[in-house]
Amino acid sequence: MSTNDTMNSPKPSLVLCSNSESETENIGLAIGDAMNCGLLIGLNGTLGAGKTRLTQGIGKSLGIEHGQIVSPTFTICVPHEGRIPFLHLDAYRIQTPEEVDELGLDEMLENGVSLIVEWFDLIRPLLPPVDLEIQIDAPTKDSRNFSFFSNTENGLQILNALKLENRNQS
Ligand SMILES: Nc1ncnc2c1ncn2[C@@H]1O[C@H](COP(=O)(O)OP(=O)(O)O)[C@@H](O)[C@H]1O
Ligand SMILES: [Mg+2]
Repeated sequence: MSTNDTMNSPKPSLVLCSNSESETENIGLAIGDAMNCGLLIGLNGTLGAGKTRLTQGIGKSLGIEHGQIVSPTFTICVPHEGRIPFLHLDAYRIQTPEEVDELGLDEMLENGVSLIVEWFDLIRPLLPPVDLEIQIDAPTKDSRNFSFFSNTENGLQILNALKLENRNQS
């Protein structure tokens, strides 16, 4: 893991670089370790960017085995009962706003359930304000850049924890 500045707009609060799947898992672990309430986490990035791999790392920190977290593309969402319960959602195949409404996501968040949403951009307008948004880019076959954005207090707490953990790396 390493930190970088970037010229993207809006400017991410933090960029972490990974050069392997296990480094990506470690980024996920660090996010999970910092979670202490229900959060909306939005993941963006093309197919194979590492959205599911990152979610596996978050899940591992929350007590969910790697193998139980798979891309929920065909089921839209899968609930997991971790230290913090979370719903793993894949927006790719959602066709109508009603499909999202029926899930009762606002209520879940209010009840302390976290939501981790792959292809978040596709349903952004249907969801409450995102706590932590992560854009994943893949400059090479094995490297990934994770750009973090947040505007909420809960999201900023996670970002601060990640910054602290990565403060000595360049
Ligand atoms: N640094 C890396 N971090 C995460 N995945 C990587 C990395 N380098 C290569 N990969 C590969 O990228 C793919 C990521 O898959 P996945 O997490 O399912 O993507 P997504 O959910 O974004 O479609 C896997 O095949 C994985 O082996
Ligand atoms: Mg996926």
